[in-house]
Amino acid sequence: MGKEKVGFWVVGVLVLVLILGSSAASDDRQQRWRKAMMSGETMGSSMLINRAPSSIVLPLHGNVYPTGFYNVTLNIGQPSKPYFLDVDTGSDLTWLQCDVPNARCREAPHPYYKPSNNLVPWKDPICQSLHTDGDQRRETPDKCHYKVEYADGGSSLGVLVRDAFNLNFTSEKHQSPLLALGLCGYGQDFGETYHPIDGVLGLGRGKSSIVSQLSSVGLVRNVIGHCLSARGGGFLFFGDDLYDSSRVAWTPMKHYSPGFAELTFDGKATGFKNLLVAFDSGASYTYLNSQVYEGLISLMKRELSTKPLRQALDDQTLPLCWKGPKPFKSIRDVRKYFKNFALSFTNDGKSKTQLEFSPEAFLIVSTKGNACLGILNGTEVGLNDLNVIGDISMQDRVVIYDNEKQLIGWAPGNCDRLPKSKSFIM
Ligand SMILES: *[C@@H]1O[C@H](CO)[C@@H](O)[C@H](O)[C@H]1NC(C)=O
Ligand SMILES: *[C@@H]1O[C@H](CO)[C@@H](O)[C@H](O)[C@H]1NC(C)=O
Ligand SMILES: *[C@@H]1O[C@H](CO)[C@@H](O)[C@H](O)[C@H]1NC(C)=O
Repeated sequence: MGKEKVGFWVVGVLVLVLILGSSAASDDRQQRWRKAMMSGETMGSSMLINRAPSSIVLPLHGNVYPTGFYNVTLNIGQPSKPYFLDVDTGSDLTWLQCDVPNARCREAPHPYYKPSNNLVPWKDPICQSLHTDGDQRRETPDKCHYKVEYADGGSSLGVLVRDAFNLNFTSEKHQSPLLALGLCGYGQDFGETYHPIDGVLGLGRGKSSIVSQLSSVGLVRNVIGHCLSARGGGFLFFGDDLYDSSRVAWTPMKHYSPGFAELTFDGKATGFKNLLVAFDSGASYTYLNSQVYEGLISLMKRELSTKPLRQALDDQTLPLCWKGPKPFKSIRDVRKYFKNFALSFTNDGKSKTQLEFSPEAFLIVSTKGNACLGILNGTEVGLNDLNVIGDISMQDRVVIYDNEKQLIGWAPGNCDRLPKSKSFIM
């Protein structure tokens, strides 16, 4: 245990509460903010009409277990240097550990980024988007301070700079747009769950996110997708020309949340309804609020009571592990003992979209050969009512966040091969 990480959802919960119905005043403020964002996005997309559609595909490395996260290599700087970044759809800002005096940095796979004279001033719209509550220090107009905090206790504190991101497009173009990123000039705290990494790639919906920045300069549509392979690795993409939209199960999203769902177990209703659900690639495992978590475990235990599995109390890999007649080698050995369950999302009261959880989407086989439940108690880590779909439940499917159409979609996918052209995945 200990390697899982929840992304930005401490802040995410607040934003969701604001968006999904609260006081009229905060609703209003949120609406205005969203409108401003959307008009920006519309401008971005009309600029694209005359361009050949293009996407960026980035290979991913890592796995849910035992590594606990996925990383992507980005080439940044002039001349560019490679950096390994943790992929996090739960937060916006991309940042790197850096080489400045007194920075509190951690061990990293590459030499720290060396800043040159490329500070983003505080009046820059990207800086403003990070300081919606007016906390920007105006006494330093030449700089933009930022602070991001993650639900696992980690944080990064520093200033924004602009530098070249070296990117290959599927149209075979090669470009190096200047994009804003954070530098931890003042240091960061990785919380309990540190793994050696050069920084974080933030893929949230905010203006500071790399894909929002790429779309605002007209290079790709404001769409991101990922395909995490159950065998490790996979890929990430920006842009909308790599998949056949008609084969994706779409549902409206708010802040990367497909909204409210109902839990079904083995195809039957469980009585758990109106569950607020969000996707977060920065979380290795899936989190359910304590009521649903307990409900699901008791349904599983009832199902297992007639099977030759015993709880493995000596296995600390995850809170709940089961031992079989002999050690399991892979999920294939255990899948017959477990039933599928599903989250069913209602689209504006009309149709329903299902997110099915087969055993591969909620179990891992530990190094001790036991089957461990990759669904954790969200209440315990402070997620309150929010349920978070983590990497384990997104494996071997393409998950697409279309920030222009405000839709989130998923479809079964082959995540083992990098896509080269349209309609690769399904
Ligand atoms: C990140 O990915 C690279 C390959 O691009 C791999 O060599 C490296 O081990 C990964 N880093 C971690 C911490 O897993
Ligand atoms: C872009 O593609 C070229 C040629 O295929 C390759 O040599 C280069 O490493 C790629 N650059 C990045 C940043 O992936
Ligand atoms: C889940 O976490 C909450 C809060 O810490 C706790 O009260 C509850 O007992 C936990 N449930 C289980 C099954 O561990």
